[in-house]
Amino acid sequence: MSDHELRVSKIRNGTVIDHVEGGQALNVLAILGIDGSEGLGVSIGMNVPSDRLGRKDVVKVEDRELSSSEVDVLSLIAPEATINIIREFDVVEKNRVIRPTHVSGVLSCPNRNCITNAGEPVETEFAVVGNGVRCGYCSTIIRDDIAAHIDV
Ligand code: CTP
Ligand code: ZN
Repeated sequence: MSDHELRVSKIRNGTVIDHVEGGQALNVLAILGIDGSEGLGVSIGMNVPSDRLGRKDVVKVEDRELSSSEVDVLSLIAPEATINIIREFDVVEKNRVIRPTHVSGVLSCPNRNCITNAGEPVETEFAVVGNGVRCGYCSTIIRDDIAAHIDV
């Protein structure tokens, strides 16, 4: 894409989450716990034409890097995402997300009777299965809208 066609400005320092499935950008921000009140520079491109995905979302967060547990959850809603670390305008690192086998302490179980919702000191634990995640305590499977179960 030429500079002429760039929809969202380049950033000097921070993280560009690219090749996000179209429509998931706001969920990406939810996973990162960003709502604007923290004062970070955030730019979003939604439903941008992409050779690989047809339509993609792009999220640029200035002066912030991602933790490995954030990347784990991101991979569940944006399995094709690329995480680019930007320093002084250069892409200094580019990584594809990797689907983890488990996510701990990030998602909440939708089953109200699950031990993880009983006020006990139990950390949630989900196994990543075919098209969703399965609670390690009660076996409830979350298939759709995983982002709605993020507990941050
Ligand atoms: N980017 C940015 N600010 C910079 C450098 C890059 O916002 N200072 C963005 C680009 O707009 C792009 C992403 O970071 O969305 C990756 O940049 P780059 O690797 O240069 O682009 P591509 O080669 O198109 O990436 P890929 O091969 O991953 O599609
Ligand atoms: Zn459960």
